[in-house]
Amino acid sequence: MPSEKPRLIRSVRLPAAVEKRIETDFTAPPVPDAPLDTAAMLALAEKQQAFAMLVTHHCPLKGADVAAIPDCVKLVATVSVGLDHLDVPALLARGIQVCNTPDVLTDCNADLTMMLILAACRRAAEYYTLMKNGWGRTLEMDEMLGMRVSGKTLGIVGMGRIGQAVARRARGFDMKVLYHNRRRLDPAQEEGATYFENLEEMLPHCNILTLHMPATPGAPPLMTAKMFGLLPRGSVLVNAARGALVDETALLDALRSGHLFNAGLDVYQNEPNPNPSILALPKIFMTPHTGSATVETRTAMGMLSLDNVAALAANKPLVTPVTA
Ligand code: DGY
Repeated sequence: MPSEKPRLIRSVRLPAAVEKRIETDFTAPPVPDAPLDTAAMLALAEKQQAFAMLVTHHCPLKGADVAAIPDCVKLVATVSVGLDHLDVPALLARGIQVCNTPDVLTDCNADLTMMLILAACRRAAEYYTLMKNGWGRTLEMDEMLGMRVSGKTLGIVGMGRIGQAVARRARGFDMKVLYHNRRRLDPAQEEGATYFENLEEMLPHCNILTLHMPATPGAPPLMTAKMFGLLPRGSVLVNAARGALVDETALLDALRSGHLFNAGLDVYQNEPNPNPSILALPKIFMTPHTGSATVETRTAMGMLSLDNVAALAANKPLVTPVTA
């Protein structure tokens, strides 16, 4: 590491161990009181003459914002695996390197996906509300019944690291697993899942569908009214990937009509202020974009980001570089 500590700024407070390392190994302004938006980060980068900007999905860097990044910035380190908030080609074209945090959050995101699957199928949101209101009466044997998970067919869209980790877990629940991916995986990576080259052919077989693909900025949603229509009546949608993958109006229609039994959602089109009509549905199980939100994983993500900053400051290759 050069004698002067690398100068970095971060858009959010990071877990304690990561903040401690920032304090000792880097030059950084005090922890922000609240998450900083893009304009605040650009101003701070200039003021601090930052070498690296640590951001997450709430701090997009695209278009004019990329052009406005001061020349001192040599690295944009996103503390996420997703890259849809960044214009990577534009950043690289400006000579700003980019890194993300793959692998370290795979298991955590897959765990949350299982939670969404179980909670949506077993009506956890309604049961929780009932209990918070005191319960107070014996339920009929046919009242508020959920959908059994074991024995059901799970369709996975996007069989990258997280999709594979979900398939592994689903096997433990005795689920039959199907997957759709741009290309068929090596059989050793398939986790016993059956490949469908064509998503539309897979959907009619899925009792539960879970999305694990990145969102391409500007691309239309994958899950449209037509796609929901191809799922069997009484199926469940789970999304812990990106809100942009789902047409939320079509999702609401499918839920209200009973075509979908339920949904488990961690991500939304408009974060952190999701569509009020979605929030109002008592049955959906919802979490606030927390796929990686454990002490262990967020610490690992922060540390990996700092490893990248330290590497570049020492003129070494990035640990987890993002290429165009
Ligand atoms: C990720 O790492 O991409 C998570 O969704 C947080 O944005």
